[in-house]
Amino acid sequence: MENVSKHRLVVIVGSVREGRFGPVVASWVAEQARSHGGFEVEVVDLADVDLPLELPAMPPKFAGDGYPRPAGMAPLTAALDRADAFVVVTPEYNHSYPASLKAAIDWHFTQWTAKPVAFVSYGGGAGGRHAAQHLENVLSELNAVTVGAGLAFVNYFTGWQDGRPVSEDSAGYAKTMLDQLVWWAGALRAARRAAPYPA
Ligand SMILES: Cc1cc2nc3c(=O)[nH]c(=O)nc-3n(C[C@H](O)[C@H](O)[C@H](O)COP(=O)(O)O)c2cc1C
Repeated sequence: MENVSKHRLVVIVGSVREGRFGPVVASWVAEQARSHGGFEVEVVDLADVDLPLELPAMPPKFAGDGYPRPAGMAPLTAALDRADAFVVVTPEYNHSYPASLKAAIDWHFTQWTAKPVAFVSYGGGAGGRHAAQHLENVLSELNAVTVGAGLAFVNYFTGWQDGRPVSEDSAGYAKTMLDQLVWWAGALRAARRAAPYPA
């Protein structure tokens, strides 16, 4: 039975590369979210999704529920649909985010609308911040609300051990991010129920 007092949080693993680090970060984020207490948590791994680059002729913004997506994308679409909030876990590829994430975003539209999104990024010296900034820009077009708090793991290859961040501050930063997501998820769920967003 649905726990109506909790918000549905979808944690997205954005990288699909062989040998990727993304699932390690997403697993820790999901653990933080579960122990936070404000969420029903679901991890969606884009490596498990059929994400072709060839899009149908009509943009999903105008096509509504009848948008012709591949059958292998259905679990992703359903998860995005039922989400009240998102954490996007992303690495930085060439000062941006992976093509797999862009494809997942571009195949959808209403699934993001009037919902809050936070970013947990990782990379080298910039900690994936370029990726998060590009995502903020893109998701604003889909009428998502990007929250101010997030995490950026600099030099993740030394900053993580045994599946956890080395810095003891990370859990506190995650809590702030999750607190902000709870606040926005409640406010925006009520707003979505009161009136459709004027997209
Ligand atoms: C194609 C590619 C481009 C990359 N570009 C950057 C970059 O611009 N900045 C950075 O900090 N790290 C960069 N990296 C390093 C990644 O941050 C690192 O490989 C990380 O593990 C990638 O995440 P993943 O393992 O989940 O795929 C790049 C890696 C790849 C594969």
